[in-house]
Order: sequence, then structure tokens, then C-alpha cells
Amino acid sequence: MGRPLKVSKPEPATNNSEPVPAKTTMTLPLKHVAIIMDGNRRWADQRKLPRLSGHKEGVKSLKRLVRHAGSIGLEYLTVYAFSSENWQRSREEVRYLFELFSNVLRDEFDELSENRVRLRFIGDMSTIPARLKKSFERSMEESKHNTGLNLQVAINYGSRLEITQAAKRIAAEAAAGLLAPADITEELLNSYLFTGEIPDPEMMIRTGGEMRLSNYLLWQAAYSELYITPILWPDFTPENFDEAIEEYAQRNRRYGGD
Ligand code: IPE
Ligand code: IPE
Ligand code: MG
Repeated sequence: MGRPLKVSKPEPATNNSEPVPAKTTMTLPLKHVAIIMDGNRRWADQRKLPRLSGHKEGVKSLKRLVRHAGSIGLEYLTVYAFSSENWQRSREEVRYLFELFSNVLRDEFDELSENRVRLRFIGDMSTIPARLKKSFERSMEESKHNTGLNLQVAINYGSRLEITQAAKRIAAEAAAGLLAPADITEELLNSYLFTGEIPDPEMMIRTGGEMRLSNYLLWQAAYSELYITPILWPDFTPENFDEAIEEYAQRNRRYGGD
């Protein structure tokens, strides 16, 4: 799909004149990309469309990207769909968004599953409407043996609530005598996060140009490379995604060292 990625390792030199077979699998320089899908309403404003229709267009963009990410062999994609702060939006918008999540899951699950996507919803599920929560749980259960792209959708997600719930659970286990304070390591705390079994994202992309993390993956993104683009989410294409990966491949990650 689109222009080929230029980040694969060079082909080994051949010592005869046989043409090098076309590469079918690409070597990606990273396993996990996290995305803050921002700018849906501005996209609609720019086109003088009803603001909320930007969210529908955002879903199309996500669909395109999920297909693409699977086709290039990305292992993990984690997208921010609704933050724990987004409840502050109008009742109308919140309702619209939750209806959209429910419809998209209903309409897209079969294709995702055919494409071997493993779906996970991350966030505080305690305030998600019961029926929707059930469909989330069912889709996670039904896709758990899929071996393609791991797609995490963050809904009612906020890093501070995530870390707070982890601390509460750890404290409860300590109080029950199941854990000693000395057992609390970074690895242990990490395992209590919604992303417990998922490696940290090597890159975090934000569309829409805002220079902030908006309470997204604060722990997990401690050393993620940030890639912020002014492109609004509905306009973000697989080619734009490949450009981000190409730029990532050029970055020098030092982790505090020399
Ligand atoms: C991101 O787009 C989607 C959600 C937060 C649900 P926005 O709705 O924030 O759109 P802008 O940033 O206002 O344009
Ligand atoms: C972040 O976007 C949340 C999602 C993309 C779901 P926001 O639009 O809510 O972020 P702020 O308000 O600009 O920080
Ligand atoms: Mg926004």
C-alpha cells in the first residue's frame, strides 16, 4: 500500500546476476506505536461540516491505518479514542462518541478478526455503559488467539487514573499480606497497568499539532520518541505513518546515556 517504507535493512549482497526477489516482509525498526488521534472537530470545522462528523471521518482514518499497520507487520498499535477528561465535553458529543464506538465495533469486528487482529480495550471500564462494556469484553475474548496486529483502543483512559488504580491494587495486596513493600519494583508496578503485558511504545505520534501528552501513556512513554504532526487525524494517511517510522529510524535514542 502506498510508497514502500525505506527503513528495512539492506538486502544481503548477491554474488550472481539473479534479480533479487521482491521483499514480502519488511523489517520494521519498532514494534509498538502509540497514537493520539487528535483534530477531528477541527477537520470538520475547516470543511464547514457539523463538528461531530469529524469523528466519523476519524474512524475511516483509523480503519485505513489498522489495515496498513497489519500489512507491514507492526506488532502493536495503541490509539487514544476517549480520555478520562473527555467526559467534560457536551452530553451530545459524549453520546455521539459512545454510539460510534459501539457501531464501529459491531461493523468492523469480523474484518478485524479475519485480518487476525487481536483487540484490547484499555481504560477504566467501570463507567462504560454496561452493554458496550460487554461487547468490549466479548471482542477481546473472541480475538485473544489472533496472532496479527495487537490493537489497543484506549477508551475512558487516563494515565493518572491508571497509575492510581495500580497503586490501590498493590496496596490492597500488601495490606492482605500478599506483597511486601520491597516487592514493589518498576516491573511489578508496570504489570498492574492496563497495558501490563504489552511492551512500551517506541514512538508516540500526535496528530493535530498540540504539543502535549493529554494524560496518555505517561508511564509507558517514558522514553518514547515523540512525533507531532499538524495533520488533523482524519487526514492522516498510511504514507504519513510510514514517514513517521522513517523519521523514527533516524533518531538517536540515548536513554540518558552518552
Ligand atoms: C480527537 O479529536 C477525538 C477525541 C478527543 C474524542 P477532537 O474531538 O479533540 O478534535 P479537535 O482537537 O477539537 O479538533
Ligand atoms: C486527547 O485529545 C484525547 C484523544 C485524542 C482521545 P484532546 O483533544 O482531548 O486533548 P486536549 O484537550 O487538547 O489536551
Ligand atoms: Mg482535540
